[in-house]
Amino acid sequence: MEIIKSIDSTFAEDVVKGLSSNPKHIPSKYLYDEKGDRLFKAIMRIPEYYLTNSELEILKIYKEEILNAFTSTSEEFLLVDLGAGDGLKTKILLDLLIKKNIRFHYLPVDFSPTALEKLCSELSYSMPGLKVKGIADDYYKAILKLSKEKTKKIYMILGSNIGNMQEQEINEFLSFLGQNMENQDKLFIGFDLKKDPDILLKAYDDSQGLTRSFNFNLLERLNYELGGNFNIKDFKHFPTYDPQTGEMRSYLISKKKQTIALAALDITIEFKQWEFIHVETSKKFDIASIKKLAEGNKFKINYIFNDSRNYFLNTIWSLNH
Ligand SMILES: C[S@@+](CC[C@H](N)C(=O)[O-])C[C@H]1O[C@@H](n2cnc3c(N)ncnc32)[C@H](O)[C@@H]1O
Repeated sequence: MEIIKSIDSTFAEDVVKGLSSNPKHIPSKYLYDEKGDRLFKAIMRIPEYYLTNSELEILKIYKEEILNAFTSTSEEFLLVDLGAGDGLKTKILLDLLIKKNIRFHYLPVDFSPTALEKLCSELSYSMPGLKVKGIADDYYKAILKLSKEKTKKIYMILGSNIGNMQEQEINEFLSFLGQNMENQDKLFIGFDLKKDPDILLKAYDDSQGLTRSFNFNLLERLNYELGGNFNIKDFKHFPTYDPQTGEMRSYLISKKKQTIALAALDITIEFKQWEFIHVETSKKFDIASIKKLAEGNKFKINYIFNDSRNYFLNTIWSLNH
């Protein structure tokens, strides 16, 4: 089978913009191409990446309470999973919703069409009664589209996806989401908490080298999709944690002065020795910062659930006006 791949113009524009900036950066959503999805799935299953097990524990223990908080009536609702990935944790809720005969439609949203296709086809096989419709789009565009639907919506942001945004972006995003929600809607959102930096550093630089490969895959993607000539050996994967901002940040640092060509775009990018590309932020929170985010963006927190190690929090929010 022949697959003709055209260049995603937004991807190309964002890459040119990010690599021409000082400091250089590329939005982390571009880490998730087909290989990135596979690598992230593998990362989620290693114990060093504690986020998965912590959130799984919360969902397994509190699934009944969580569903009761979503709705107290038999009215139908839309379960919108923003950045659904492989839906590993969501499936716990889907399973219980189906068992309880609750009327709902599952709408996974993901920027990665491959992740979404896999999730939807897997669900149609494993949960045949489920009404599922995948939305391959950016969070903002998906929320805007869904705001026109009158049916009650439960928005979910699992995996601390929100922490991949910068501080200002988090506020802009929550404010935008709030403006596009109705009083009856809810937000179920997970936050990774501040903890021992050694635990954090291992989660983003694991012993099997999976997180390293995940980050380097971005350079491979630039080579494959934009005709780049990055040599991975000339870059260093460097994750670091800032306890003041709570930001875990991953960088790819150029070990030498070099000129990289992106042939498909007919441009070259200069790197000084030790110059970096910022490829991912994973912000860590505490309860005070979570409350501030909710209150500052006109939400109130209805429920808080935590895991036994106090590594992760899942919260349920509604509008506060
Ligand atoms: C860290 S993974 C988490 C997946 C899942 N929520 C979980 O907890 O296991 C983030 C997912 O969000 C998607 N994503 C990232 N940025 C996005 C954006 N701006 N719009 C839509 N999807 C996005 C990625 O493609 C990826 O599948």
